[in-house]
Amino acid sequence: MYVKKIHLKKIGSTNDFALQNMDSLEDKTVIFADMQTQGKGRNERIWISERNNLFVSLVLKPDYDMDKKNTLHSLTHYSAVVLARILEKNYSVKPAIKWPNDILIDGKKIAGILVESVVQGKCLQGVIVGIGVNLNYRQNQLEKIDQPATSLNVLVKKEISRDQFLKYLVREFFSQYEELLEKGFQLIKKEYISYSMFLDKNIKVIVFDQSYQGIAKKIDDTGCLVMDCRGEQKIINIGDMIC
Ligand code: BTN
Repeated sequence: MYVKKIHLKKIGSTNDFALQNMDSLEDKTVIFADMQTQGKGRNERIWISERNNLFVSLVLKPDYDMDKKNTLHSLTHYSAVVLARILEKNYSVKPAIKWPNDILIDGKKIAGILVESVVQGKCLQGVIVGIGVNLNYRQNQLEKIDQPATSLNVLVKKEISRDQFLKYLVREFFSQYEELLEKGFQLIKKEYISYSMFLDKNIKVIVFDQSYQGIAKKIDDTGCLVMDCRGEQKIINIGDMIC
């Protein structure tokens, strides 16, 4: 499969670069940077972006069918499964997914995904899947992160090649991408659930300015989280989980 790669030495954010250049970027462009000065996390958080770690944005311009909007939503979950597969297969660590798409190891975050889309009128111009993976952080750098965090080098006790990880990522992501567009979340539902660490737990989910507390009951066929909040069922499309 043909994938165009753009390597930036230093940039504010690879996602912002993709947003600003969406018109001219081809479908399946992979933008990666050695460092970011304004790395973005979900919910307007900062993504600390020191050298020797992975900062990549995948630009996708699928033929978008409005009837298949769940397929687009499932890209978020698919990216999490892709990262979990790579970590497990190639680095023999035990990843877990925290809904919708945080990757944790031993309860500490190792990777994050920020999916953004560009819509003009009713037309989807493109989707950006931004991925950050902690590959080579030192313990004292990890302590500066605002939540418990880990790094692959700490876990496997050797330096990790960013370029090798990126190769795995591109290969794994595009191995089932077309099939995902066709089948949506169903394609990965079982696998997603097998990596999930929150089911049957008492959790809190923040959705914009609302918060819900209850038991995480299941993931439905579209990747939404189904919660039992004191007997009342809540189906949540997207949010920030605390558990
Ligand atoms: C999260 O909050 O968990 C999502 C983090 C996403 C970080 C990546 S790094 C590459 C891309 N560029 C950004 O500015 N953010 C994403």
